[in-house]
Amino acid sequence: MDHHAAAQLPSSGLRIGDMAPDFEARSTIGPVRLSSNRGRWLVLFSHPADFTPVCTTEFVALAREAAAFASRDCALMALSVDSLFSHFAWLRMIRDRFGVEVRFPILEDPTLVIARGFGMVSAQDNDSAAVRTTFFIDPKGVIRAMTCYPANLGRSIPEMLRILDGLQAIDAQDALAPANWQPGEALLQPPAHDLDAVFDAEDVTSWFLRNTGARG
Ligand code: BEZ
Repeated sequence: MDHHAAAQLPSSGLRIGDMAPDFEARSTIGPVRLSSNRGRWLVLFSHPADFTPVCTTEFVALAREAAAFASRDCALMALSVDSLFSHFAWLRMIRDRFGVEVRFPILEDPTLVIARGFGMVSAQDNDSAAVRTTFFIDPKGVIRAMTCYPANLGRSIPEMLRILDGLQAIDAQDALAPANWQPGEALLQPPAHDLDAVFDAEDVTSWFLRNTGARG
């Protein structure tokens, strides 16, 4: 496989609502193609480097929650600039030291072509250790949410799962998720868009702020 196939990727600028650009790469589970995950959710995320403290804690935590992602019909796909053999050695160390096997694919991106294509590093920046970017991609291949953390702050795995739960709930209910929403809590209706609905509403907020009656 040509693992430089991602050379067609745009030079970042990706936004929510864009299709995730397709690519192929070598990974710890063999060659992978982003689009082969169509039909299920995908969390694609970059990490600054193997054998670093925060990244190690993230991978241990993600591996321990692998079943939680699988139960949401969501695949995980990680990538960094490190070589495939660095990934292998790191995963062996994680298994031996922490007792968890990282079975989701970790991609090698030695030329940063994927990371640059997804805006995971600045186009001008030769330091791949810049950011921890996470893309939440829906079953149609559309980017639905993104987060970006600095190298020295680890991601929250419960928040990654909450984002997935929220996206899945608002799709299923055609609704909105309020601040601090958690699975099982009330969702909101989209606001009215016509003046009659505004004047007919029973109180001053209910034309734009009301629950659906359903729980996500
Ligand atoms: C870390 O994962 O601990 C880390 C990675 C790159 C820069 C700083 C910290």
